[in-house]
Order: sequence, then C-alpha cells, then structure tokens
Amino acid sequence: MERERATFRERHAGSGRLAEAAKANLLYGVPMNWMTRWPGDHPVYVERAEGARFWDVDGNEFVDFCLGDTGGMAGHAPKAAVDAIAEQAGRGITLMLPTEDAEWVGREMARRFGVPTWSFTLTATDANRFVIRWARALTGRDKIAVHNWCYHGTVDDTFATLDATGEVVAREGNTGKPVPLAETTRVVEINDLEGLEAALAQGDVAACLFEPALTNIGIVLPDPGYHERVRELCSAYGTLLIIDETHTISAGPGGCTQAWNLAPDFVTIGKTLGAGIPCAAYGMSEAVAASIYANTDYETADVGGTGGTLAGNALSLAAMRATLGEVLTDEAFVRMIGLGERFEDGVRSVIDSRALPWHVTRLGCRVEYLFRPDPARNGTEAAAGQDPELDGLIHLYLLNRGILMTPFHNMSLMSPATTAEDVDRHTEVFGQAADELAG
Ligand SMILES: Cc1ncc(COP(=O)(O)O)c(C=O)c1O
Repeated sequence: MERERATFRERHAGSGRLAEAAKANLLYGVPMNWMTRWPGDHPVYVERAEGARFWDVDGNEFVDFCLGDTGGMAGHAPKAAVDAIAEQAGRGITLMLPTEDAEWVGREMARRFGVPTWSFTLTATDANRFVIRWARALTGRDKIAVHNWCYHGTVDDTFATLDATGEVVAREGNTGKPVPLAETTRVVEINDLEGLEAALAQGDVAACLFEPALTNIGIVLPDPGYHERVRELCSAYGTLLIIDETHTISAGPGGCTQAWNLAPDFVTIGKTLGAGIPCAAYGMSEAVAASIYANTDYETADVGGTGGTLAGNALSLAAMRATLGEVLTDEAFVRMIGLGERFEDGVRSVIDSRALPWHVTRLGCRVEYLFRPDPARNGTEAAAGQDPELDGLIHLYLLNRGILMTPFHNMSLMSPATTAEDVDRHTEVFGQAADELAG
C-alpha cells in the first residue's frame, strides 16, 4: 500500500496542488462529499473525458469503468447527445413549459419499462421521494418497506438498516434524521419472503421500494421466483410496488423490469438517462395513474410536494431523447452486456487460476467482485463480506495503472464506448494485483 501511495503522489502532482487549494473553501475539500472516497491522498482532477476514457490534469490517461457511478454509463460526451444538448441549449434551457421532446421520451420510457404514464425529476432521489409521497397519498398508509442495505438516494425514509437483533435503526452515518426510522420504515432482507409477508401483513405499508437486485452493497441477485412472490404479496396486502431501476438498467434497455418481466406499480430511474445532464423519471401503471387523477387535486398539484422548478426542463428532455434514441439503444445494450460477460470471465479466470477465496457477480453490463468466496444472499451477508482495506488497495493499484473503478466496493460498468481491449487490460492488471497479493 505504501508503494502504491508513493506512486500515486508521483503521478498526480497537479491534482495534489488543486486538491490542496480546494481545502480552503470546499467542504471536505471537494465539490461533493462522495468525492472523498477515492483511493490515494486526494481525488484525481479531470482535464477531459471522452467515450470510456478520461485524461487528468497531469496528462495521465484512464479507462473509466466507474462511469460517474452510472451517471456516465452512456459513455462520456457521446456525440449524438452532445450535439442535441448544444442545440437545445442554444434554443433555451428551462422555461417551465413543455417542448416536443417530452412526448417522445414518455413514449420511449413506456416502451422500455412497460408502465404507461411518466413524470420527470432532476435526480433519482427526487423520483423516489415523489413516488413515496404518491404511494402514501393513494393508500392512506404511513410506512414504506425497503431492503436491508439498500440505497435509493438521500431519501429520509430509506436510510435505515436492521441491527443485530432485527430492529429497524438509522443507517450508520444517517445525518440529521427527522424522526426515528422505525416510525417510517420497515426493513426486510432481499430474498426473505417470510420476513416480507410479516412486514406487509400489519396492513400499514404504503409501498415497497426495492431495487430488483441490490447494487449498492455489491450485487445481490434475487432468488428464482422472488419477484413473482413479491408482486403477489404486495397485491395481497394492498401495498404498492416501486422498482428503482437507477442502477439495474445495466440489465438491459428496460432494466430488470423488462428483462425479468416484472410488474411494478411505479418505476423510478435517474443518473444515466441524459448522458450526464441531470434528469430522472418516474413511471406508473394505468391503475395508479387513474387513482392519482381520481384522488388528487389538479388545482393544487404545484404545491403538493412533488415536482420542482427545473424538473422536466427543455435541456433534460433533449438530452434524454438523444441518449435513449441514439446512444443507450437496444443494440448498444447487446454489445455492453457482451463486454460485461467478457469482464466477468476475465475476473473469474484470475480468481480460479490463483485459487483465491473471492467471487464475481454480474447484472448485464455491471460487474462486481467481492472478497468473499461465494455470492451473498442478502444485505447482511454482503455487508459482512466487505473488505474496505483490500478494496482500497485494489482500487489504487488499478488507478496507478490507468484503470478507474467506482470508489464504492468493486463495481465496473461497460458503456457503449468501452472496448474488448479495455476489458482485457483490466483482467491483466487485476491478475498482476492478485499475483502480488497471493505472493
Ligand atoms: C438505486 C439508486 N437509486 C437512487 C439513487 C439516487 O441517485 P441520485 O444520487 O442521482 O439522486 C442511487 C444513487 O446511487 C441509487 O443507487
């Protein structure tokens, strides 16, 4: 680790100077606090990014498998999106009036995710906050249910975990919680259908807000049949089912909802839809839309706690139309998922050939390795299998050899611009790291 830290300092003198200067006026010395999580003494300062690569201010080149933690999954600065964004920016950015692109995007989202009615926000966090409000309003119930070790953005009600005795508590690091989390939230393990039934049977859960597979504590895949039963239980107990596809869009153009034929009441998604321009969306079934029309007041919709001044702006919609129409297309996903398989095979060959007690998991074009022998079946197992020290070393080792992974666990994403050579380069360097570690 010391050797790798020294290498980092040598390669990043310019970033080091900028990071030092930023300490004066930026909280934690960074523009946004997640940026403290990178390996090395400070973040790398970017000079420019294109496709699956970026260059830093010291002239180093990187293959980017982090891709802005999914915000850049369309690849950096894809030409079709950049052209559309530039063109729209020159014709007006935000008016609180619709543009023609909105109808196209709504239709395309309905095609992909199978629910017909859509609304737009600026972040996936907001999409989740708004559907929680709708769900409470429509059901007249207070509580929501989430998976243990979920992450759905900075949404108050979701920042809960189970403690060792199975009680709902505020998640470690939950800053300034408004009320004790057990008042708003039930927490269940993914793949625990009995636990889910017990949580819903009390009749006070407005909605389950679930990722179809956990992605924020490493990837935890659902058991076969899990989602069919989740749907049945939600319907049986009058609970609405919200599927958050913000990360799991890696499974295909319509996320797991399309790939696994899910039937949610609401879908939420953000991050990658506009090639990095802030935009997100939530969709709903015909029945939910009908219920909203029947039970809520159109006249006061603007002060009802959903929406936002800049949401649905002209620039976001133009970015989404170009990104969905020309960049993250059905065909692009076929290539991206093929590269995900190549990445997974490469990592597995390194693990198997060195007989390491690690494993690799994949969800479409998202691949993750964890330093435990077998895949976790739930959030608790996945959390127990984290090894922050080893994560940090691997991240720094890769970074020093021109490869960027997310700073959170060991996630890699393939974009339409990622190449087989990029993937093979990762396999090679990961193999070198494994050799050094295994002695
Ligand atoms: C599954 C999921 N939903 C929602 C969000 C929130 O996205 P944002 O931070 O862009 O609001 C995240 C962020 O990581 C996420 O992983």
